[in-house]
Amino acid sequence: MSANPLMISPSILAADFARLGEEVRDVVAAGADWIHVDVMDGHFVPNITIGPDVLKAIRPYTEKVMDVHLMISPTDLYLEAFAKAGADVITAHVESGPHIHRTLQTIRALGKQVGVTLNPGTHVSALAPVIGMVDMVLVMSVNPGFGGQAFIPLAVERVRAVRQMAGDRPIRIEVDGGVTSANAGALREAGADTLVAGSAVFKGGKDAYAINIAAIRDAAG
Ligand code: DX5
Ligand code: ZN
Repeated sequence: MSANPLMISPSILAADFARLGEEVRDVVAAGADWIHVDVMDGHFVPNITIGPDVLKAIRPYTEKVMDVHLMISPTDLYLEAFAKAGADVITAHVESGPHIHRTLQTIRALGKQVGVTLNPGTHVSALAPVIGMVDMVLVMSVNPGFGGQAFIPLAVERVRAVRQMAGDRPIRIEVDGGVTSANAGALREAGADTLVAGSAVFKGGKDAYAINIAAIRDAAG
């Protein structure tokens, strides 16, 4: 298990896009620790979501950490815009281009927390050269592009492998995709400390958000 405190990071991909600011406010009031922002470009992944202007628009609705997951290629061209728009953590994919090391250096130089992530089909050894540069590793537990997909169980063992690779470093391990109260306990036990959940948090409407978040938190232990 990780020594880091548990953070629940609801993915606003599952929120009502017509009322994003209110949704952020409501999910924070319901107990969200971070807000997960999924950025997709229709090129790196087969879906298009939001850009820096939307992040800027929702930024005033909370002081919680804005956890920005970039599923775009190229990445570097847009880092400064997301930093200026109010990201706190910026996570880039190792598969997004030939220069992940430079991307992570740039995020650090922008004064932001540095995250790195990898698709389910990428071996965790791809993280080895950069593990010393990051504050957080995101283990994808679905193929990125859409909310509401089924959890890929192998992610639990991948979390364990990343925790081992991280050694004594106080690196956060986040998991994203299909996270529910049914797998939160196994993920936490394997070493995850930051759980992204879209559908499992936003299901049932505003009155259910607090119950949904509490269910994941309780299951994680
Ligand atoms: C998938 C995104 C996830 C997604 C999670 O590409 O990175 O953050 O929104 O949604 P659920 O929890 O519904 O799988
Ligand atoms: Zn995500």
